[in-house]
Amino acid sequence: MKALCWTGVNELTVEDVPEPHLLNRQDALVKVTASSVCGSDLHLLDGYVPAMLAGDVLGHEFVGEVVEVGPDVKERRVGERVAVCSILGCGRCRYCREGLWSLCDNTNPNPGVQEKLNGHSSAGIFGYSHAMGGFAGSHAEYVRVPYADVNAFPVPENVPDSNAVFASDAVPTGWMGADLGQVGPGDVVAVWGCGGVGQMAALASLRMGAERVIAIDRFPERLGMAAAIGAEPLDYERADVLDALKEMTGGRGPDVCIEAVGMESHGTGPQYVYDRAKQAVRLQSDRGLALRQAVQACRKGGTVSVLGVYVGMVDKFPMGALMNKGLTMRGAQQHGHRYIPMILDRMSRGEIDASHLLTHPMRLDDGPEGYELFKRKLDGCVRAVFRP
Ligand SMILES: NC(=O)c1ccc[n+]([C@@H]2O[C@H](COP(=O)([O-])OP(=O)(O)OC[C@H]3O[C@@H](n4cnc5c(N)ncnc54)[C@H](O)[C@@H]3O)[C@@H](O)[C@H]2O)c1
Ligand SMILES: [Zn+2]
Ligand SMILES: [Zn+2]
Repeated sequence: MKALCWTGVNELTVEDVPEPHLLNRQDALVKVTASSVCGSDLHLLDGYVPAMLAGDVLGHEFVGEVVEVGPDVKERRVGERVAVCSILGCGRCRYCREGLWSLCDNTNPNPGVQEKLNGHSSAGIFGYSHAMGGFAGSHAEYVRVPYADVNAFPVPENVPDSNAVFASDAVPTGWMGADLGQVGPGDVVAVWGCGGVGQMAALASLRMGAERVIAIDRFPERLGMAAAIGAEPLDYERADVLDALKEMTGGRGPDVCIEAVGMESHGTGPQYVYDRAKQAVRLQSDRGLALRQAVQACRKGGTVSVLGVYVGMVDKFPMGALMNKGLTMRGAQQHGHRYIPMILDRMSRGEIDASHLLTHPMRLDDGPEGYELFKRKLDGCVRAVFRP
């Protein structure tokens, strides 16, 4: 079958790879009908996530049709259309039972890399390096879904693939960002990054009753989309973010700061030059510009919710601000299983529509070009979605 493979840093090719088959009694085989790019893939493409091997199939945000199930799959049926969570849970370990799905103890068969780096390993993730289990991703005609009853969610008939595909990753991640920040009525929320994840965090914050959401980025089309959702756009190339946020909140600072940028933060000024140089020579693994701003902007006693992916060490972290202002800081790979059924239900009722994120519907054959547009944010690309 055809699949989009990582073949080296900044190198992608569409290759012929063997079709997957069931390995475990709880597996299902899914025929992919739509598979999206995600900001997390850029960290792999750019070579910042360890343990990628040439030939690894990318992709983790997808929908498709179940074509085969193992004998112990009880809930999913052949023929069902499903959105599959990008993160794999087992449904039985302590973490899954507590709803901390991305901390699952059983779905990463290769925990050693993360154990060395972080002390413990998180869950397996589709198409996300051998540090996250080495699972083949969804930019392919077929994908094997482990623990299918737990990780695949039936899509209501009236929700098209163009909306449902984002129930797999971008929407639940955004939802989790607002949830970890415990956003509630009256809150002022600031969101760094207006990609799919940041926009969905803005949307979720508003749905949870936030009085104001300020959305920060530099691309006009992305700021425009955030504004259409109901957020107030803030262009970090035209204003000093910390000054502007103080000004907009009467000196207090946002109650909740959601970071949806991650380890490849862009920026202006000397801090950006410093971050790039240190990352280039591997003196830090992650660029923390947006993260530092979020900590510094947050009001006293507020919460910083980190959705952007970090893999290791951030230099010049403002620990003094975190400690002295009494901040709470939370983050995780998405605990999607908590939110996906609710999200699909709301999509079905017309209450959530994320389909505007799909700016570039493409064929799988055009995968390398799709990633080029997405990575460089060309042609207004927010998400390219491939149809095998
Ligand atoms: N926690 C999770 O489970 C999870 C899931 C999906 C994605 N992610 C991560 O979330 C992040 C965003 O993903 P995405 O798909 O929206 O990516 P994206 O590349 O589409 O969007 C990132 C946005 O951040 C903006 N940005 C860069 N530097 C900034 C700065 N200093 N201030 C404000 N904005 C800045 C960029 O202009 C861009 O619009 C990535 O790090 C991705 O890895 C995490
Ligand atoms: Zn993702
Ligand atoms: Zn588990």
